[in-house]
Amino acid sequence: MSCDTFPPPRGPVVVIGAGTMGHGIAHVSAAAGFETRLFDVDQAAREHGLALIEANLDRGVELGKVEPAARNAALDLLSETGDPAEAAAGAELVIEAVPEDLDLKRRVLAEFASHVSPDAILGSNTSSLSISRIADGVPVPERLVGLHFFNPVHIMSLVEVVRGDRTAERVVERARSFVESLDKEAIIVNDSPGFASSRLGVAIGLEAIRMLESGVASAHDIDRAMELGYRHPMGPLRLTDLVGLDVRLRIARYLHSELGERFRPPALLERLVEEGKLGRKTGQGFYSW
Ligand SMILES: NC(=O)c1ccc[n+]([C@@H]2O[C@H](COP(=O)([O-])OP(=O)(O)OC[C@H]3O[C@@H](n4cnc5c(N)ncnc54)[C@H](O)[C@@H]3O)[C@@H](O)[C@H]2O)c1
Repeated sequence: MSCDTFPPPRGPVVVIGAGTMGHGIAHVSAAAGFETRLFDVDQAAREHGLALIEANLDRGVELGKVEPAARNAALDLLSETGDPAEAAAGAELVIEAVPEDLDLKRRVLAEFASHVSPDAILGSNTSSLSISRIADGVPVPERLVGLHFFNPVHIMSLVEVVRGDRTAERVVERARSFVESLDKEAIIVNDSPGFASSRLGVAIGLEAIRMLESGVASAHDIDRAMELGYRHPMGPLRLTDLVGLDVRLRIARYLHSELGERFRPPALLERLVEEGKLGRKTGQGFYSW
């Protein structure tokens, strides 16, 4: 399906939540030429988000990856506000990146749905919640689509476009066009636990932990099997250390409850988390940092 058939939104883009993901999404949206408004209930978060975007653009200029004129143009297209009506005026795309809480996401999307044009797309950056369940709390479920970006957003090129059970096909295709206009690659995934990325990534990570647990090989050698044998840029155990063992355990428990035994968290993972060995952030996980 070409972008000509389903053009990306042309009007302003609103990003709700100026935290880790929200500021990154606002960055790439403005850098792609969209007027972008960053909304957050917390003024300090909004200011911090804009400062991070400026710092990342400056770093891009230093590295020769961003033209100074493009940096200035992106900053000119960015604004922040704490007023939902002001943020939403004329917007054609709203992307929420508020904390991972079903009711909160429903609330903010329902509020913005009442302010934006009837044709506007509502996107959710949820990493694990069901798009169809979020849509239950939104008056226009056919306009809600998952837009799952990866951290850091301005570096990572994948976006999962998640189709809920009532998402209109036109909305999926316009979301895909938007992602492509950011110079990123969209994959289209039907709403299901862990979407495509977390489900596969966590499956490999859990199996690697079970292999370590049963003495198949050392952590280093299990990681090298994937790095050298399958060209993964980083082995699954090292990656789990970077993500955080606690974060991985939470996702594994959720996938276990939704998808069954194959996602049961290994005892070794449970034990390390109980001992506070959470990976790089605590200095110890499968490796010492
Ligand atoms: N951090 C990651 O690596 C990552 C990756 C992919 C997806 N996600 C998902 O992205 C979403 C955001 O995660 P994050 O890590 O950016 O969180 P974060 O805590 O860094 O930022 C959340 C922001 O939302 C704001 N907020 C809270 N309530 C609000 C409201 N009612 N209206 C507007 N703003 C509000 C907070 O002030 C905060 O600035 C979550 O759903 C998370 O699962 C996170």
